[in-house]
Amino acid sequence: MRWLRRRTPTPPTPPPLRVRPMRPDDGGHLDEVFAGMSAHSRYQRFHAPVRVLSPAMRTALLGLDGRTHVAFVAEACDGDGWRAVGVSRFVRTAPGEAELAVEVVDAWQGRGVGRQLLAALAARAEELGYHTLDAEVLLDNQAVLALLQRTFPGARLEPCGTTGTVHCPLPRTRDPFERAAAAWAPALTR
Ligand SMILES: CC(C)(COP(=O)(O)OP(=O)(O)OC[C@H]1O[C@@H](n2cnc3c(N)ncnc32)[C@H](O)[C@@H]1OP(=O)(O)O)[C@@H](O)C(=O)NCCC(=O)NCCS
Repeated sequence: MRWLRRRTPTPPTPPPLRVRPMRPDDGGHLDEVFAGMSAHSRYQRFHAPVRVLSPAMRTALLGLDGRTHVAFVAEACDGDGWRAVGVSRFVRTAPGEAELAVEVVDAWQGRGVGRQLLAALAARAEELGYHTLDAEVLLDNQAVLALLQRTFPGARLEPCGTTGTVHCPLPRTRDPFERAAAAWAPALTR
């Protein structure tokens, strides 16, 4: 019966993926993700047909200070080493508020990368005291609308023509009592 056991199909192991904070010297990763995006994905991200990242755009996107401009990069191991496959970021717009953006290379879309990038971003924003992240989206971008709805329960879409703003409340700051209870929970269960 040993041959029967050997024939049992084993599910393919997903390639390793890691998400880490992006640094101002991660320009290579920024370029790698941009290069892996189709014209359609770039249009969805920038709302314009961006063919190259200009030096001014690169400087702005790498102007990360860890508080008012924060980004995360997702890296996948493909056998030849780690490659950047996605980036998420937020930029502060007002006290407690920031605008978010996320992009994943086409080859890795639909595999949970966007979800992990946004989870890391939301957790960091919460730690820094933000209460809302806003996303400017094209209304026909079903992928990001679904992703935001799943990541941020209570997300609200405010449409404006062909675009819209999705207001995403951060989970633990939605209800101050819930937040206080969470902070006390470890002490109470000790
Ligand atoms: C939007 C984007 C970041 C999503 O990233 P992703 O890695 O493909 O998304 P994930 O695989 O993590 O999917 C998470 C959830 O989003 C939803 N989703 C993702 N792609 C979808 C699609 N094409 N249609 C409908 N829902 C989709 C699903 O609900 C999914 O949850 P599930 O796996 O439980 O079903 C990616 O498609 C992308 O980079 N698009 C181009 C750039 C862009 O549009 N950026 C947004 C501007 S702010």
